Amino acid sequence: MASHVLLLGLLTISYFSALAFGDESPLQDFCVANLTSPVAVNGLVCKDPQLVEPNDFFFTGLQTEGNTSNALGSQVTPAFVSQLPGLNTLGIAMARIDYAHVGVIPPHTHPRATEIFTVIKGSIEVAFVTSNPINRLLIKVLQKGDVFVFPQGLVHYQRNVGHGHAVAIVGLSSENPGLIAIPSTVFGSKPEIPSEVLEKSFQLSKSVVAKIESKF
Ligand SMILES: *[C@@H]1O[C@H](CO)[C@@H](O)[C@H](O)[C@H]1NC(C)=O
Ligand SMILES: *[C@@H]1O[C@H](CO)[C@@H](O)[C@H](O)[C@H]1NC(C)=O
Repeated sequence: MASHVLLLGLLTISYFSALAFGDESPLQDFCVANLTSPVAVNGLVCKDPQLVEPNDFFFTGLQTEGNTSNALGSQVTPAFVSQLPGLNTLGIAMARIDYAHVGVIPPHTHPRATEIFTVIKGSIEVAFVTSNPINRLLIKVLQKGDVFVFPQGLVHYQRNVGHGHAVAIVGLSSENPGLIAIPSTVFGSKPEIPSEVLEKSFQLSKSVVAKIESKF
């Protein structure tokens, strides 16, 4: 009896620890997302396997330079499950990031993915911050061919510190990594977080909070 309880306990622990890392393992060869299905599940509904085609596992577009003519001077071109339906349930995705001169990808986090990052062109400063209460900044300047990893859930950013355009390619441990951009999440939610909360949290005056909110 006691051994059954122990076995059940061990199974429960291994089940939950398996769930704690990235996406769940697939239960079949593939589950190409049916992007038109209205059925809501955790992930996306599978397309009929008989109707799967090579193009379901294919995406073209990372050869194209992103349009960095925006306030941040950066552009992400994703190859996530929405662009590449064959990624559904595989727990992996990639993207190209373009940076104009001094372009930035602002502090953000991916709730569902670790990110591995490599520079294809230029010179890019990368950093992440450890969780509270230490909040240590781990920062590094990368050159072409260098690789850096942003651990799952941690706030990170990138900045072009070279002389011209820069390009990076990233891999993510989820087909749908999610994005929480700190500035727009905190100062641009709809409806807005009550300004009293932001004033107290950031120790700012009402007018400064209003000014920041007006940017998002
Ligand atoms: C996708 O889902 C829609 C809506 O349920 C269905 O009509 C269609 O046949 C599905 N497509 C494939 C290829 O399975
Ligand atoms: C790039 O984006 C800007 C701002 O949205 C837009 O005005 C411009 O036409 C775009 N350029 C190209 C080449 O798409």
